[in-house]
Parts: sequence; C-alpha cells; structure tokens
Amino acid sequence: MSAPPTPAEALVAVEDVHTFYGKSHVLHGVSLCVGRGEVVGLLGRNGVGKSTTLKTIMGLLGPSRGKVLFEGQAITGLPAHKLARMGIAYVPEDRRIFKLLTVMENLRTGLDRRGVTEARKQELLDKLFAYFPRLAERRSQAGGTLSGGEQQMLAIARAMMLEPKIILLDEPTEGLMPRMVSQIKEIVEVLHRDGVAILLVEQNVPLTLEACQRVYFMEKGVVRHHALASELTVDDAVVHQYLGV
Ligand SMILES: Nc1ncnc2c1ncn2[C@@H]1O[C@H](COP(=O)(O)OP(=O)(O)OP(=O)(O)O)[C@@H](O)[C@H]1O
Ligand SMILES: [Mg+2]
Repeated sequence: MSAPPTPAEALVAVEDVHTFYGKSHVLHGVSLCVGRGEVVGLLGRNGVGKSTTLKTIMGLLGPSRGKVLFEGQAITGLPAHKLARMGIAYVPEDRRIFKLLTVMENLRTGLDRRGVTEARKQELLDKLFAYFPRLAERRSQAGGTLSGGEQQMLAIARAMMLEPKIILLDEPTEGLMPRMVSQIKEIVEVLHRDGVAILLVEQNVPLTLEACQRVYFMEKGVVRHHALASELTVDDAVVHQYLGV
C-alpha cells in the first residue's frame, strides 16, 4: 500500500530523467510516479531541481536522457500545448496570469478550446466561482490589480478550466499570508475530491504532509526518498535530513 504506482499504471511517470540548462547538468536521473487522483508532494531544499522536474514533465525542457510517461504513453519531447490538451496543467512559480486581462478574461483563456460547448463553459465557470467567491467578486477587475494570493487563486482557477487530469503546482503558497495558505490547501482538497491528481512542489512542510498522500524528497537533482505522508511528521528525522538547515 505504501508503494507508489508502477510507471505503467501511473497517470504520470518520470523515469531516470536527466535535464540540462545549457552545459549545466541539473537533473541526474529523477524518477517518480503520480497515480490517478493522487496528491503527491515533491520536497527538497532550494535549487535541488523541483521546478526543473515540473518543467521537464510539462515539455518546457527536453531531457537528454530518460522519459516521461502519461497514462503509460511516452510524452517526452511533446510541446506543452499538446500536453495541456491531453490533460496536464501547469501553474508555475511566477503564476503568469495575464495582468491586463480581467479575471473573467483570464479564465476564458482556459475555456476557449475545441469541443467545449457554451453550456459546459458556463457550468465550469459557475462551479469555479462557487469555489472561489473572491474571484467571483473581482471578475471584472484586471488580473494585475489582484493581491498575490488572489493571483495565485486565479492561476490555479485558470488551470482548472482546462479540466486537467493532473495539475503540476509549483510553490502555490510562496509569499502568502496564513489565511491565503489555508485557502490554497482547501482548493487542493477540493481538486482531490474531484479526482484531479496533483504534483505539489512546496516549502511548507505541514501543508504538504496534510494535503498529500505521498511525498518524494529530492536532493541535488535526484529523488532520494519516498514516504507516505501519514508516516511522516514535521519534525521527522527524514524531513530534517532533506529540508533542515
Ligand atoms: N534557466 C536556468 N538556467 C540555468 N540554470 C538554472 C535555470 N533555472 C534553474 N537553474 C539551476 O538549476 C538548479 C535547479 O533549479 P530549480 O529551479 O529546479 O530548483 P528548485 O528545487 O525549484 O529550487 P527552489 O526551491 O529555490 O525553487 C539550480 O541550481 C538553479 O540555479
Ligand atoms: Mg523552484
């Protein structure tokens, strides 16, 4: 039960991935799996390669070795827009919402895709505004005028408009006030209840242990350890080893 899904049965599997920035070798054989509907944490100190791992899954960086599988099929080298269509959403560290577009227009960028009827679009928006009353109140406001926490919510909300099977979430609570942090946690729980898988990169260990079923620990470009979140505590020796200062 504590074992992660095998690459063949996983929703997303990363197998022995090596990624470079120019000549700089950053990922040295990363392997991890996320099962369908599973919330999985990826923890590690600054600079160990967590964001690079997400970018490699999302096709923004091409690995020199290893592969990425989605539903058992190799997706290594496919462009990000194709992966988005297949059901992989990505919310980067810098949030990247459209600052000059309104909240509604930002959300619509996630809805304007083939095969979505107007009725379905409305249904998705209604559901979303029920989850995010703050965004509903600010639907006509420009994205750039939202607070940091609201921008993070908008970034996640826009990803949800794509009806993804998995969301790659890079440090969603970074720089947010405690109240916003608990709202982000609630959103992760809502997504989990809806059956959406999440690969969550975080610095917030208590949140990660509460929101995730399993956790991977990275060190210097590789995954060194894996555990069930329920087996870990914030002051665990393992947590200290990989995250302590
Ligand atoms: N665009 C880039 N060009 C060159 N090196 C980079 C680039 N982006 C990241 N790196 C380097 O790759 C390594 C891993 O970076 P990455 O952003 O994946 O780390 P991280 O685990 O997400 O760290 P943090 O917790 O600080 O966000 C770091 O040494 C970083 O300096
Ligand atoms: Mg990072």
